[in-house]
Amino acid sequence: MLDQINHTFTPPSNIKYLNSKVPKDYSDIWTGNPDGFGSPSKDILGYILEGVTQSRTLVDIASGNGRYAIELARNPKLVVTAIEISSTGRDLIDRRAKEEGLVVTAIQADILTYTECNQYDLVVSSGLLEELENVKDQADAIKKMQSMVKPEGRIILRYCLKISNRKPEQRTNPDFVRYFFGEDCWNILTHFSSRSTTNNTKSTINDGENTIQTQTLVATKR
Ligand SMILES: C[S@@+](CC[C@H](N)C(=O)[O-])C[C@H]1O[C@@H](n2cnc3c(N)ncnc32)[C@H](O)[C@@H]1O
Repeated sequence: MLDQINHTFTPPSNIKYLNSKVPKDYSDIWTGNPDGFGSPSKDILGYILEGVTQSRTLVDIASGNGRYAIELARNPKLVVTAIEISSTGRDLIDRRAKEEGLVVTAIQADILTYTECNQYDLVVSSGLLEELENVKDQADAIKKMQSMVKPEGRIILRYCLKISNRKPEQRTNPDFVRYFFGEDCWNILTHFSSRSTTNNTKSTINDGENTIQTQTLVATKR
């Protein structure tokens, strides 16, 4: 169920959040349960696939266990690259692609320091921003991802505003992301928040709720 949010503009200089370090290693989730993040979200897949009528390049940034990259590689029109900081995630994507006879270029890299960036028709990233250590890294990641979108290309970003029992400073600040999508360069197609429940967040202490509140921004580059 989606609820619209107030799109108040908040300049980064006013944002005081400094994240504590959040564990970046999800390998124990994937080792025990390779599908530990569940199925890819249908709405994200929809925003990626709408309008894909001819061959398109796509990069999934911070691709985790590859739930999006693998699913998208099943579409013959998509040429899929996955960038993931962990070797466990990268290896899992390689293995799954091989098992299914799919082609995914899986690269192990930290998106903040990755310099060999191509431009893609579609750039997707789900669940990265709240994993980064501070707002400067979040800003750098957003700018890096934006630089990887071709003109007329599309970016689809999903990030957490709230995870049960994760501290406020370990989340993405509401409206922070939108700040980087000025109307002169970007056409925002949609920006909304949604809530879901989960039983598979490693850094969530079970408080009986397991709520995740996310924001999703979809934009095209002018
Ligand atoms: C919450 S998971 C989301 C995974 C995947 N996008 C999904 O939706 O299932 C966050 C992922 O970001 C990866 N990650 C964290 N920091 C990163 C960085 N600086 N560069 C690339 N990947 C990173 C983690 O290893 C982890 O796989």
